[in-house]
Amino acid sequence: MVYDTIIVEQRDAVTLITLNRPQVLNALNTLVLEELSDAFAKFDGNPSQRCAVLTGSEKAFAAGADIKQMSEKAAADFFLEDFFSGWQSKVAATRKPWIAAVAGFALGGGCELAMIADFIIAADTAKFGQPEIKLGVAPGMGGSQRLTRAIGKAKAMDMCLTGRMMDAAEAERASLVSRVVPAADLLEEALKTAAQIAAMPPMAAMVNKEAVNLAFETNLSQSILIERRLFQILTATEDKKEGMAAFVEKRQGVWKGR
Ligand code: CAA
Repeated sequence: MVYDTIIVEQRDAVTLITLNRPQVLNALNTLVLEELSDAFAKFDGNPSQRCAVLTGSEKAFAAGADIKQMSEKAAADFFLEDFFSGWQSKVAATRKPWIAAVAGFALGGGCELAMIADFIIAADTAKFGQPEIKLGVAPGMGGSQRLTRAIGKAKAMDMCLTGRMMDAAEAERASLVSRVVPAADLLEEALKTAAQIAAMPPMAAMVNKEAVNLAFETNLSQSILIERRLFQILTATEDKKEGMAAFVEKRQGVWKGR
């Protein structure tokens, strides 16, 4: 598939995906969703790729769902197309870890897309917000749910009801992002972190992702039981044998990915 709205590069075991609609601040239309879904599916299916980074431009990670596209649609179109459903059923279904590297605006669907990532590394220029209320709507790509789980009710209500932006420092204080770096270092920091994850035993990386995500899906006693089962499954892998042997023998592990 040739992409019009994203650029995909492979840097060793790291896939770098760059949103590329600069004229509209990377607004997310249906083509972006189709292309990102394809790129993430290929990343997931390629054993040589072990972690991904999704980024935008200096000015905008993404300024939201494409308002021009949405302004032309009737309510029945949104319902019949189950508009936005692919963000959950395809992009969020990616099984391997990926990081959002955010500079500039991450608003509406842009903030929601960043929150689909396993974690966010922000430039000091990043600005997050859910301004949908100003358009007479509300978040539709998971924002009201993921934001509330990430930063709690008080701040999520503040963000969704006022539509205000949160800067990178506030986002780090609120635990929306895992770290903030100078804008000039953003990509390097994200790629370095992705390379660190890519060097881990790959099944263990996938299971760690699945285990952390359980915290958002089910109650504590069930998720602790599933976590334990996931741990037990990993003990059957060759990489577990190698990882523990490497520790005992004081050397680096060499991973088979199974
Ligand atoms: N959709 C479509 N086009 C957009 C866009 C969006 N979300 N955001 C920006 N653009 C376009 C602008 O229309 C403009 O295009 P033209 O040059 O053709 O006029 C271009 O990008 C540059 O934008 P601005 O001139 O507005 O740039 P600015 O620096 O003055 O302002 C901004 C930047 C504050 C981010 C402003 O563009 C803005 O408020 N954008 C909309 C943000 C928003 O409301 N996002 C939520 C969308 S709804 C949503 O996402 C629903 C959901 O839950 C998924």
